[in-house]
Amino acid sequence: MSRIVYVNGRFWPARKAAIAVEDRGYQFADGVYEVCEVRGGRLVDERRHLARLARSLGELGIALPMSMAALSLVMHETVRRNRVSDGIVYVQVTRGVSRRDFPFPAPAVKPSLVVLARSSDRTRLEAMAAKGIAVVTMPDIRWGRVDIKSIALLPNVLAKQAAREAGAWEAWLVDEDGRVTEGASSNAWIVSADGTLITRPLGSDILPGVTRAVVMEIAKARGLALAERPFTVAEAYAAREAFITSASQIVLPVTRIDGRPIGDGAPGPIAAALRRAYHDHAEFS
Ligand code: PDD
Repeated sequence: MSRIVYVNGRFWPARKAAIAVEDRGYQFADGVYEVCEVRGGRLVDERRHLARLARSLGELGIALPMSMAALSLVMHETVRRNRVSDGIVYVQVTRGVSRRDFPFPAPAVKPSLVVLARSSDRTRLEAMAAKGIAVVTMPDIRWGRVDIKSIALLPNVLAKQAAREAGAWEAWLVDEDGRVTEGASSNAWIVSADGTLITRPLGSDILPGVTRAVVMEIAKARGLALAERPFTVAEAYAAREAFITSASQIVLPVTRIDGRPIGDGAPGPIAAALRRAYHDHAEFS
C-alpha cells in the first residue's frame, strides 16, 4: 500500500507530496513539529501534544495553519489512511513559502502544514525495553531555546549519529557544569541510591516532554519520591536506575552510560513499572 501524506490542504500519495524549495522550513529550519504516539489506531496524549505545538508556534510568531479541531481531524485521518495501528503521527508547521530573506515575510504568508503517519515495530521496541539501552554523554551544543520544538535539529542529529557510531542508542547531552540536560530525542531520568526519581526541571534548556509530564503524574500517584533537579554525569554513573522518555519510545531503561553498567546492568524495576503503567494513565483519542 502506498503511503499517504497530508500537505497543505490535501492528501497525496507520498511520491507526489511536495514542498516548495523556498519553504522557510527547508531554507531556515523556520518551523516546528510534534510527534504523537499511535496505539491501537488511536492517538496518545494528543491534547498535550497540540497544546505544546500551539506554544511552539506562538513563541516563534507562526500562525496556526488551521484550527486545532481541524488539525486533530487531519491527524486522525492521516493515521486511518495509512492504516497505522502502532506507530507515530508527525506534524510539521513552517512559516511558509517566501523569497529567501531572513526577516519574517511581510505581509505574513500561509504556514505550510505536513502530516505523516507511520507504523513502528512494537515487538522490537518491547525487546529493547526488556534488554535496556546504552547511552553515551556528549556536550550539549544546541541553541538557547530548546523548549521550542523546532525542526532545527542538526545538533541532535549529530549527537545521535555519534551515539550510534559508539554502539549506543541515545546521546545524553551535558551542559557546561557537567549536568545532563536531556537526550538527543528524549528526556533523561535517573533513580538515585535512595530510590528518588530525578529529572531536570523545565526551562529553556530542555524540551517539556509530554511523556515526562505523564510519567511525573504516575510517579506522584504511586507515591514515589520525585525531585526535579539537574543531575551530573557522575550521579548518573552511580544511579540505581536510569531511563529515557519520549512519545515514540515511552519509557526505555538505560543499562549502560559511557560503557559503564548502571545498577546491576539490567533494566530497573521502577523504569519497567512506569513503562507498564504508562498507557493506563495516558489519554487516548
Ligand atoms: N522527540 N527531548 C527532545 C530533544 C526530544 O526531541 C523529545 C521528543 C523529547 C521527549 O518529548 P515527548 O515525550 O513529548 O515525546 C525530549 C520526538 C519523539 C522526536 O523528535 O522524534
